[in-house]
Amino acid sequence: MSARETEHEHNRPATPLETDSGPSSLGDDADSAISDIKSTGRTESLASSAYAYQFKDGRRYHGYDAGVYMLPNDEAEQDRLDLQHHVFRISVDGKLFLAPIPKDVQSVLDVGCGTGIWTIEFADDYPNASVLGVDLSPIQPAYVPVNCSFRVDNVETDWVHEETYDFIHSRAMVAALKDWPGFIQQAFDHLNPGGYLEMQDVSFPTGCNNPEDEAISRVRDYGDVMLEAGKRIGLDFEAPEKWREWLEAAGFVDIHMKWVNWPIGPWAKHQKNKILGRFTYLDFYDAIEAAGPLVIAALGKTQEEVQTLIDDSRAEFKAQKIRLYQRVCFCYARKPENTQEEEVPSVIDVEAENKQIADLEAAKATT
Ligand SMILES: C[S@@+](CC[C@H](N)C(=O)[O-])C[C@H]1O[C@@H](n2cnc3c(N)ncnc32)[C@H](O)[C@@H]1O
Repeated sequence: MSARETEHEHNRPATPLETDSGPSSLGDDADSAISDIKSTGRTESLASSAYAYQFKDGRRYHGYDAGVYMLPNDEAEQDRLDLQHHVFRISVDGKLFLAPIPKDVQSVLDVGCGTGIWTIEFADDYPNASVLGVDLSPIQPAYVPVNCSFRVDNVETDWVHEETYDFIHSRAMVAALKDWPGFIQQAFDHLNPGGYLEMQDVSFPTGCNNPEDEAISRVRDYGDVMLEAGKRIGLDFEAPEKWREWLEAAGFVDIHMKWVNWPIGPWAKHQKNKILGRFTYLDFYDAIEAAGPLVIAALGKTQEEVQTLIDDSRAEFKAQKIRLYQRVCFCYARKPENTQEEEVPSVIDVEAENKQIADLEAAKATT
């Protein structure tokens, strides 16, 4: 298969979900999927200022560069992120990533690592790699594999550190990154030649399997409100749609994009979709509340208005009458091997030429 065909294959829209004709109630065990989620601790090497958390309306927020990110970082949000980690994995048959990185990958960066669940699992799978997770919040566990470390930093400021990486990973960052082209360019600059950037993210709004339901879906309304709120404060909840363009502009090649539909709730056919649906149900049930303050701040809506939208959306999730799904993009791209190699010959040529001139002048001076 040619590279072009492969690329085409990866660009295909997600396979539509088929509705299961059987019962799709969430049942009594809807919460059991999160019962084994581990609790997270703290990373002791970090400066205490990072622990100066902010509190509002019963939720806890990051302290470092306070206000930069609008979703909470408390236990409830950490549980949601760990649950969502499994959703990402299940939807690509258990894989942590799709990029064809070599088994002997050396240096890896996880951007906006959250609880560090991806970072730690990657470090376990690749014991010879040095794996760094960076986040605004020091919410990662204290006991981690020896090849895994965490750092508190704002990835939207200049990456002044010298490290370069073979693999950079970023997941679920649509509510976080305001300058995607800037992030992608920094990732390019900090990748070793031949290294990969992988981004995995949802793209809003949430879809209705029956397009006619869009007119009556409150979840769809919520998605539209999120898009509008994002625009006002510089967040693009449709960013994955533009990744290809930004990756190309930065100089990446071999861009692969795979779109997947996550059913919300167990309404879709096939066992895998049912497991996925139960997990996404729990994820979205909590996520819409976590995102409430963002909507209130950006659109000047009242707490009551947003709460009504949240309650209506939750009722819609529970009812499972409208078959909702979320589009998700898995994308990876490679930094070319020869960006430096192409420049090196011209540098050598210029130097050689200068030396030749200097030698000639020196020879003239001695005659
Ligand atoms: C939705 S969570 C995703 C966490 C993790 N990537 C995952 O998939 O489980 C977004 C994370 O990005 C972090 N974040 C947001 N803005 C950031 C920034 N400017 N610099 C570093 N981390 C940031 C948040 O603290 C949060 O942990």
